[in-house]
Amino acid sequence: MAKLGLKAMVAAVALVLVATATTLILTLGRAKADDPEKVDAWFARLSHAKRKTTRLHFYFHDTFSGKSPTTVRVAEAAMTKESQTLFGAVNIMDDPLTEGPEPESPLVGRAQGFYGLVGLDSMALLMDMNLVFTSPKYGSSTLSILGRNPVLETSRELPIVGGTGIFRLASGIATAKTYFLNLTSGDAIVEYNVVAMHY
Ligand SMILES: *[C@@H]1O[C@H](CO)[C@@H](O)[C@H](O)[C@H]1NC(C)=O
Repeated sequence: MAKLGLKAMVAAVALVLVATATTLILTLGRAKADDPEKVDAWFARLSHAKRKTTRLHFYFHDTFSGKSPTTVRVAEAAMTKESQTLFGAVNIMDDPLTEGPEPESPLVGRAQGFYGLVGLDSMALLMDMNLVFTSPKYGSSTLSILGRNPVLETSRELPIVGGTGIFRLASGIATAKTYFLNLTSGDAIVEYNVVAMHY
């Protein structure tokens, strides 16, 4: 009787492992970059596809200071140093996105892109970045943001203009809210809420 119980347990564990692996492979299947024929086949089935809505919540860490900055100033105009709004400066970033606001919080992805300071009279960023989601559920699926970010306002609305992987043909809205800002270093932690529609 005890022997039978052990066998059943081993079989159950094996079944769970196989099921987990299958789910993982199926989920990751479309997250990887597909070859052109597969992308074509995906579009051919699109008229039968249902539109999905995904909501995401995470924190964005933009760090200039310390030993491992994730944002760098790559250009600035001669007038940037005198400008109250830093007009004419451009930064490149590869910023971590985390579950919670603490820097040690689990990583869910990265924001790779650049932003330029484009406001003469008020501080405004032109943001052009790709959010790359690294957790197993999303593979390396991306969402692209291109929009205006008036950083000193409480809540900012940025358009999602596209996506890849599970976020193909995405459109939507990201709202950004500053959680922490150090005006001396420029370091910021920003809370993001994303609503994306995709297929
Ligand atoms: C703000 O940044 C400055 C310069 O890097 C640093 O000396 C200071 O400790 C920072 N303040 C906070 C509250 O993080």
